[in-house]
This record gives sequence, structure tokens and C-alpha cells, in this order.
Amino acid sequence: MKTNIGAPFGKDALILGIETSCDDTAAGIVRGGREILADEIITSAPRHVPFGGVVPEIASRAHTEAVEEAVKRAFSSSGVSPEEIDAVAVTYGAGLLGALLVGVSFGKALAFALDKPLVAVNHIRGHIAAAYLADKTLEPPFLTLLASGGHTAIICVKSFTEHEVLGSTLDDAAGEAFDKTARVLGLPYPGGPNVERLAREGANTVKLPKMLKGAGGYDFSYSGLKTAVVNYVHAAEQSKKPWSKADVAHSFQCAALDVLAEKLFAAAEERKIGVVAAGGGVSANGYLRERLAKEAAGRKMKLVLPEKRYCTDNACMIAAEGYIRYAQGEFASLDLNAEAYIPLKNASEPL
Ligand code: KG4
Ligand code: ZN
Repeated sequence: MKTNIGAPFGKDALILGIETSCDDTAAGIVRGGREILADEIITSAPRHVPFGGVVPEIASRAHTEAVEEAVKRAFSSSGVSPEEIDAVAVTYGAGLLGALLVGVSFGKALAFALDKPLVAVNHIRGHIAAAYLADKTLEPPFLTLLASGGHTAIICVKSFTEHEVLGSTLDDAAGEAFDKTARVLGLPYPGGPNVERLAREGANTVKLPKMLKGAGGYDFSYSGLKTAVVNYVHAAEQSKKPWSKADVAHSFQCAALDVLAEKLFAAAEERKIGVVAAGGGVSANGYLRERLAKEAAGRKMKLVLPEKRYCTDNACMIAAEGYIRYAQGEFASLDLNAEAYIPLKNASEPL
């Protein structure tokens, strides 16, 4: 299937995306699955800081307060009128159930009121589709490193609608390991960016396991690394000897991210695929981005890295994936429900 996936529904279709799976209430408008016309995010992150992580009830409440405003802003900043959009695409899963339900209910009501098709979007596919916004000429096949708070996987994007999971984490996700490391180092929520900030002041001096490095095919494992960091910090705190939190952050970052880059490029070489991409919150990490850029340049491979803003949760990626679904005529009915958990499917099955 080619880029003009818009046929028969029009390649310049305007899709409104709505995303409420975690702590960001987002609305975006994308033309033709590629061109961002509006990108609005109202985050409830500051409200979760005192609790050290996302509190589902607070997130749901915040979405309820913000969803209409985010959508209004998307229309006004783009100059697109509600009647002009071709479809409403909404994240139906995976994520926090109560949070998802806010977006799903709002999306359904809006689609019904405007008499437009409703498109249900899998959040993970949205993260993959962010690459189409970053490179408007990008077409499958390519490999994607998906690294978010809930998933870590290498995915072969075979066509706009077909994916094959080459490997994934056997236990925790990379983002979860960042969040846990942040907590044990006493860094505030959100963990990932704060570990990255601290890591810049440190060096790779703490020996930590690189889980499944050179083993396990393209699978990953983060629980051992997470435990090693916790054990190291507890032992260091008890030893009364000086130790460097920044060194722990830096060493953790290397251990957690080097293996992602290594396996991604090993998979690309094995599959003879010269285009690689990345998506999900962890791919906003500067150290990982540099590693990926270096590895790609060394192999003369093309690397498509969405801007950091489009690695973490946003609604434009939902609109981009929504466009693909819309172009297939894959419309959801108004009894669409939210799903907290959607498994990463295996070989050749659509995600
Ligand atoms: O994709 P995302 O925004 O939400 C999910 O779908 O999960 O990813 C969130 C995850 C969190 O675990 C967060 O700590 C991590 O991505 N993250 C980062 C960075 N920014 C966000 N991890 C490492 N470095 C970052 N700069
Ligand atoms: Zn996400």
C-alpha cells in the first residue's frame, strides 16, 4: 500500500485527534496524515508531582475539565471549523481506563453531533505513526523502536496497516525502569526527563547489568536492571561512603539505552531494512537519540526521529494513525468502549 492511502476518502482528509490515555489532555488536527495544523496539550502533570506518579482519579478529573478546552483550542489555532473535519480519531486504549473514557465519550459525542465518522486508535500505533509526521515521505517498510512507559519493542512496520513485533520486553518497560530509578534517586515525577537531566552531570562509573545484551534475540528485560539500581542505592546509602547520584543516573541510562540501540540496528541489518524510526516517551531521551543517530550514520541508514514533543504523548500522532484507519474505511461505532490493556500482538498480525 502506498502513501496515497487517502483513496477513496480523500488524501487531504482533516482528522481531529483526541488523546487522554494518561496525564495529558491533547487535541490535534492533521491534514493527510502528515501535516500538523493544530497541536494542543493541557497537562495535569503538576498535579501528580506530590504523589510521585500519575494518580488515575486525578488524571480522569483533569481530562474532564480540559478536554473541551483542548479541542476548542485546536480548532481556533488551526482556523479549521468543526464542520470541515473529516473524522474524529480518539485513543481507545491502552491506558488508564477512567482517563481513556473521558476522551472516548467526548470523541463519540463530537462525532455524533457533527455527523462525522469516529475512528478508534490504539495508542501504541499512534506512537509508531508519529514518524509519518516527522518525515512526510516516510513509507513502510521500516523498523521502529517503540519505548514508552508501558512498552519496549522492536517492530517491523511492513505496510501502513501491518506490523510484526520482532522482540519486546519480557518484564518491565524501559520507561518504567526510568521512573523507578528516578524514585529511588529521590527525583520528582516525571522520572525519565529528570534522570536524563541528572545523568548529564555524571559518568558511567557504576557497574550495572545490561539485561539480555547479546542474548534473547530482540527481546529486552528491565526488571534485573531496575533491581540492581535499587540494591546499589540502598547499599550506598548504608555504607556512609560518598557516592554520586549523577553517576548512578548516567550508568543506568547507558545500561538501559545502549541495548535498545544495539538490538534495533542488529534487527535492521538482519532484515536488510535501511530505514529505522523511534517512538514513545523514552525516545525523547537525548542520549538515546545521539546513539541512534551515530549508529544510523555509521551504517548509512536513514533515521526518522520525531521531535521530542511527538515522542511523548500527543494527539497529532493519534490523528496521523487515525488517518490511516480512516483511509481504510475503518470506522468505529458509537458503542466504542475504552480498553485499559491491549496486548502487543505477534508476528504478522495487525497490532
Ligand atoms: O510515550 P509516553 O509519553 O507515555 C506512554 O505511552 O507510556 O512515555 C512515558 C514514559 C515514562 O516512563 C517517562 O519516564 C519516559 O517515557 N520518558 C523518558 C524521557 N521522557 C519521557 N525516559 C527517558 N528520557 C526522557 N527524556
Ligand atoms: Zn504514550
